[in-house]
Order: sequence, then C-alpha cells, then structure tokens
Amino acid sequence: MCGIVGYVGQEQAAPILLDGLSRLEYRGYDSAGVAVYDSTLGTLSVHKAKGRLNVLSQQLHGGADLHGTIGIGHTRWATHGAPSDVNSHPQVSRSGKIAVVHNGIIENYAELKSFLISQGIPFTSETDTEVIAQLIEYFYDGDLLSAVGRVLHRIQGAYALGILCDDCPDKLIAVRKDSPLILGYGEGCSFLASDVTAILRHTRKVSYMEDGELAVLTQDSIQCYNHLMQPVDKEIVQVDWEMDAAEKGGYEHFMFKEIMEQPQALRRCISPRIREGEVVFEDFHLDPQYIRDLQKIYIVACGSSYHVGMVGKYQLEKLTRKPVEVALASEFRYMDPIVNEHTLVVVISQSGETLDTMAALREARRLGGKILSIVNVVGSSIARESDQVLYTWAGPEIAVATTKAYSTQLAVICLLALYFARVLGTVEDGEYRSCLEDLLRLPDQVEQVLSQKDHIQYFASQYFNHDSVFFIGRNIDYAMGLEGSLKLKEISYIHSEAYASGELKHGTISLIEPGTLVVALGTCKRLFQKAMSNVVEVKSRGADVLALTTESCRKEMEGTASAVMTIPDARELVLPCLSVVPLQLFAYYVALMRGCDIDKPRNLAKSVTVE
Ligand code: AGP
Repeated sequence: MCGIVGYVGQEQAAPILLDGLSRLEYRGYDSAGVAVYDSTLGTLSVHKAKGRLNVLSQQLHGGADLHGTIGIGHTRWATHGAPSDVNSHPQVSRSGKIAVVHNGIIENYAELKSFLISQGIPFTSETDTEVIAQLIEYFYDGDLLSAVGRVLHRIQGAYALGILCDDCPDKLIAVRKDSPLILGYGEGCSFLASDVTAILRHTRKVSYMEDGELAVLTQDSIQCYNHLMQPVDKEIVQVDWEMDAAEKGGYEHFMFKEIMEQPQALRRCISPRIREGEVVFEDFHLDPQYIRDLQKIYIVACGSSYHVGMVGKYQLEKLTRKPVEVALASEFRYMDPIVNEHTLVVVISQSGETLDTMAALREARRLGGKILSIVNVVGSSIARESDQVLYTWAGPEIAVATTKAYSTQLAVICLLALYFARVLGTVEDGEYRSCLEDLLRLPDQVEQVLSQKDHIQYFASQYFNHDSVFFIGRNIDYAMGLEGSLKLKEISYIHSEAYASGELKHGTISLIEPGTLVVALGTCKRLFQKAMSNVVEVKSRGADVLALTTESCRKEMEGTASAVMTIPDARELVLPCLSVVPLQLFAYYVALMRGCDIDKPRNLAKSVTVE
C-alpha cells in the first residue's frame, strides 16, 4: 500500500522525488523518506520523518537541502513496525551503502533477520524491509545486480523495490513481485514509481513491470530482465491521463472534486459504448456461444467494488436470467468456490492492484473460469492478468474513498448486463432501446442531483453529531445502503451499519431509540410501500429518519420521514448511479463538519496491496 518513486537524470532529484511522493500519498501517509546520492560527499544522504509528507518536505525545504541527481523516495502505510522515523523507508544496510524502498510484505523476514543477526549484523528498525537492505549488503561483492539476484531467491512475499547503492551512483534497480511498479522514460532521465500519477509531470511514456522482473535504470536507458536474468524488451505505452486530472484544481478535497466529476466520467464511460442503438465493447471478445453456455457468473471484489457486485447481481440476473453469485475477494479462495469452464468470473477493482482480488482472480483461473475484469487503472496487474478487460475510464481517482470509479463501475455493469441480454435474447427490443436511452441520459441526471448539494450539506449540518447511523433499504436500495454506510464510516469515523430493511425486526430494531439516525433508502418504485412501512416502524420508535427517494415519491415520504433527499425518477437499472450521489455528498459534508482528514482517512490506503 506504500508509494515508491525513483529518479535518475540530470536535475536535482530531491524536489522531483518529493513532488512524486505528494501524488502517491494516498497509498500511505504515516511517514515518508528519501535517499539521494550526494556526489560531493560520495555517500547516500537519507532523510526520513514520521507523519505526513509535508513534515519531511519542510525539514528538507522542499528538497533544496539535498544535492544529487539520483534518488529514491517512499511514503509509508505501516505493516511491520509502528510509524516512526526509524521504521520509515528508505531502509539502509549496516554500512549505509545500500538504500531500499519497498511496497509489500516479506513473509519470511523473521527467519532471514535471525540468520543475519547470527552473522553479527545489527538491526535498527522493526521493518521487514531492513532485511532486504542488509541481505543485499551481505551478498554484495562489487556486483550489485548479482547481490540483488541472490536476495530475490531468498525472500518470499510481495514486493516492489527501488534500490540505490553508493558504489553505483548512476543506477537504480527496480524489482517487482505482486506489488505494482512502473518504469518511466523521460528525456535524459528515467523513473520508477508505484503509480503513473507520480511521474506524469515528467513523462507519459511508461512500461509496466511484470512479476519477477528486475530493471536497471540509468539516465539514458532502462534495461529489464526476467527472473532468469535474461534481457526482456518492454513495450512502452503512452499514458493519456491529463495532468490536471490528478490535481485538486481549486477544490478543497480530491473526494469532492471526484464527486463533481461524475457526469464527465460517466459520459466518458458510457457514450463510446453505445453506437447505433447497440452496446459496443471494443477490444472485448466473448464468443456468443460461450455466453449462451454460461452456467454461472461469479462477481468477485472488495469494499465498494463488492457493493457494485451486489447491484450487478440484481441487474445481471434480471436481464439475463443467468445465476450470479457475488463473493468477497478476501473470502473467495478460502470457500472452495464452484468454478469451471462454464463460469465467467467478473473481477471488479478500481485500482486493479487489490491483493485479495488478485488472489481470487488467480484461484478462479486455476479452477478453469474465464476472467473478465472491470478496472479503472489502465495496465494494472488485474487488467493484465484477465482474459477480458472493461475499463471504467473514470480518470485518476486520488481520494481514498471511491466515488467516480464506483459510479462508472456501476455503469459498466449495466452495459454488460444489456450486452449479455441482447446476445441471449432475454431482453425485448423496446426495453433494450429504452435502457440505452436512459444510460445516455444518466450523466445529465447525475448533474441534476449534484446541483442539490446545498440541501445535502444542510442535512449533514443537522446530523453530523450523531454517534451511530443505520442505513436501511431493500434490494438495490440495500446494496446502496451498504455503500452509503461504508462511505460515511470510512471518512467521518461515525459508527454505521447497513441492513436489509426486512431484517430490522429480526434483531436490529432493538437498537433504535429516540434520536437514532436512520438513513432510509426508498428509490425502488416496486418496493416503495415496503420502504414506507419500515420508515414508520423506526420513526415510531423515536428514530430521526433521513430518507432518500425519487421525485415522484417525495410528497408521500415527506409526510413520514424527518427529512428527504431526492433523485430524479429513473428506471431501476440506472437508479443506483443516481442514488449513490446524495450518499457520497452526505458522507463528505458530515466528515467536513467533523473536521476529518477526508482524502486520507486514518488507517486506510487507496490501494490495498496486502492481505
Ligand atoms: C472504498 O471507498 C474503499 N476505499 C475500498 O472499500 C475499496 O473499494 C476497496 O479497497 C477495493 O478497492 P479496489 O476497487 O481498488 O479493488
């Protein structure tokens, strides 16, 4: 989950590293560090600080205090060892000769550490990463590459590494296994980074490292090797993300900016895929006979992406009449799933790097399933390991709490359900066309919902002091309740739970007392009266009810609920893309009023690359 960056070129490295780290801070933000080779001193200069990156940045005056044109940097999300200066990366070897930044976990570090201690090598940190630096030095006999190679044969786990040695001040070494790492090709400079956003300011030419690969970077070239140390030619791709897409652009928070960007993101995601009245997926090839022969669709994902899967189940089953099962990726490989060649496994991941989701993908493949992933980050590991990929094209999402990636995932699922239904003949022509029209109208409707943000801010001001919030709803409204609840707890730290409304009387209703806040979702027309009954039930036990419904049901709901948020009337297929917006805004404003660090909530990271 940490962010790593490396630079070798002709300019001063430290400001470039700090700038790159500032764009990776969403990956981890409990401490940061840089190592730069100082050619005047002939040594590595290492600086680390607990806390946000700006602590380090201030200490180094934005990098002006460090001189050298090659370096590595790191922003940390602690796994082994509490956040502290000493546990921050870069970790260095005993002599200070070798510095390492690492994203991932070395599973056998304890055993390796004991061995090194038995050889008289002292350790200063509690990190697993220090083992790598010490071990490289232990094997080092003047040939850095061979020492790194020997270490790679001994370490187990997941890692993306950036390595710098003061004997080779013109070279960086990059290594990747199960943690993302990209290489950047600049004019007279080269980069390594966890994510393209870190280097977008300097170059758009990148290549994606594969598992087991190692690269040697100099200012003029990058040479990659496979696990047998045979040279590999990498494909260089051009990244088309705009730089300002990864900037705050005048907004106070990335999360708010990304909420407001949803209409454009949805347009980008939907419009090119509807042509002449048909869903068209370019670069997507599933044989119609394969679709007809499908016995089951599995949807596998974590967190918000899993919530998209829940909505996807309702939509896919309704339109295709194929059975759909949704599984948490973190559970999938432990549940002995029933997957065969007639199972399509739909893997959903914004980052394309979530370790649990990746492990589920591999398990599904091992069992014979075909993998279709829905991913935002182009070239990410999950995208590259899938048989088919549908990109969400939401643009870079920086805030830890997902918003625009989530709504575009929903849109892709709608398109997929319609595409399959068309192939299977399970949707009538008229219905199919109206669904497509509604999807094309969706971005404008989302704009309409966003224009009500001041009302939602007002409701947030009424309720931000509550300690505990319940979200209730049925069917898609239940799935959306789960997402609303996750958004709220993630960024505001308010305890919150989502329940299927019908379950209330099986236990949860005992928690409702005067003043409890219940967010009641009733957007689904066919279930509206049921939703009303549940509102009455909790209201009569003293709950404060903030309802979310459609325009045409507003009046009826207003008679019962304490306050009502609305979305335009729409077909069930697209309702979730609308109903999520007030829930995102509500969570955002509540967190804002509670003074929370919205883009970087405590203990969380954007890309969860550990189990
Ligand atoms: C959502 O706001 C969360 N940050 C989190 O639940 C996220 O959706 C989950 O970690 C999955 O991430 P992914 O989509 O990148 O795989």
